[in-house]
Amino acid sequence: MGEGYRIAVVGATGQVGTLMLRLLRERSFPASEIVPFASDRSVGRELDGGLVVQGLSEDSAQGFDLALFSAGGGTSSEWAPRFAQDGAIVIDNSSRWRMNNDVPLVVSEVNPEALKNHRGIIANPNCSTMQMVVALKPLYDEAGIERLVISTYQAVSGTGKKAVDELLHQSRALLAGDEPPDPRAYAHRIAFNALPHAGNFAPGDDHTDEERKLINETRKILGDPTIRVSATCVRVPVVNGHSESVNVETRSPLSPDEAREILAAAPGVTVLDDPGAGRYPMAIEADGHDDVFVGRIRRDPGHDQALELWIVSDNLRKGAATNAVQLAEVLHERGLIGARVA
Ligand SMILES: NC(=O)c1ccc[n+]([C@@H]2O[C@H](COP(=O)([O-])OP(=O)(O)OC[C@H]3O[C@@H](n4cnc5c(N)ncnc54)[C@H](OP(=O)(O)O)[C@@H]3O)[C@@H](O)[C@H]2O)c1
Repeated sequence: MGEGYRIAVVGATGQVGTLMLRLLRERSFPASEIVPFASDRSVGRELDGGLVVQGLSEDSAQGFDLALFSAGGGTSSEWAPRFAQDGAIVIDNSSRWRMNNDVPLVVSEVNPEALKNHRGIIANPNCSTMQMVVALKPLYDEAGIERLVISTYQAVSGTGKKAVDELLHQSRALLAGDEPPDPRAYAHRIAFNALPHAGNFAPGDDHTDEERKLINETRKILGDPTIRVSATCVRVPVVNGHSESVNVETRSPLSPDEAREILAAAPGVTVLDDPGAGRYPMAIEADGHDDVFVGRIRRDPGHDQALELWIVSDNLRKGAATNAVQLAEVLHERGLIGARVA
């Protein structure tokens, strides 16, 4: 490897970690060394490209400029502060740090200016929130947002590799006329089903944590705690790519044509909106792409200042790995790696 930063990728054997390693390479991010970390189960494993997985320890966590984490909240809780204390900037995919006041929660097209306030840890938003705010920010800038009513149709890859395997195993068994394996990743069978239960219910809460993330993270990223947000998150038997139906009530009038024009010019957004010709965003087409796709843009017949949108994106890419690498690129371009607010 050439000139550049010493980078740790924690959770390097997972879906998001594998993609972050690939994107760092494909986008030629300046790296002098990339060190992959994972659990003890994977230590010593050789990854594509010849990198060998390391275990996390006091010694192995030293001397990094940048650390990209996607190994779950527990690992981030324990190890992100240690990497940060040793001088690395941590970009964390878990939900552990997102709502901390001194942790910027950043989407590269939406609020990159928040990066400069980091104190060592930067949080990558939840996947459903991420794709939605990429599409909403340009509309928010034009007309404000009073209220959002969101229903998600979330892919199983958002739960991790074990959930993808579970969907495929259950589907194969059912198609063969066999008894499907018992659910493990979810409370019920996911194959040929829809679960109004994406995320977990905390005791006493009638919303899942995934729904709370959509509500709280949207307000934090858009910097507007007055936006009213209603969310229902549903897990569907799709391997990869989250879809969302979003009803947007704006503060000033905005027509569907104006919204279409604004979104067509927005960074990171592709408008696919010719429903009569069968052109609208779909998970199977968003899979493998970095953009957020928006279609079915129309007036809500029940509210003359509300629009309906259908927003689809690859949750492992823009919803996680792509945004993490884009944040690293912005930090690099702005000379922020190594510079820290005291
Ligand atoms: N999937 C998404 O759409 C998405 C979107 C946004 C954020 N995220 C977040 O990203 C993280 C990873 O998601 P994923 O889908 O990539 O999960 P995954 O495929 O299950 O991978 C999990 C990764 O974490 C590692 N790991 C687990 N326990 C560890 C430990 N104690 N110490 C070190 N490494 C450990 C695993 O290593 P082994 O292979 O050795 O077990 C693996 O590399 C989660 O925090 C998730 O919430 C995911």
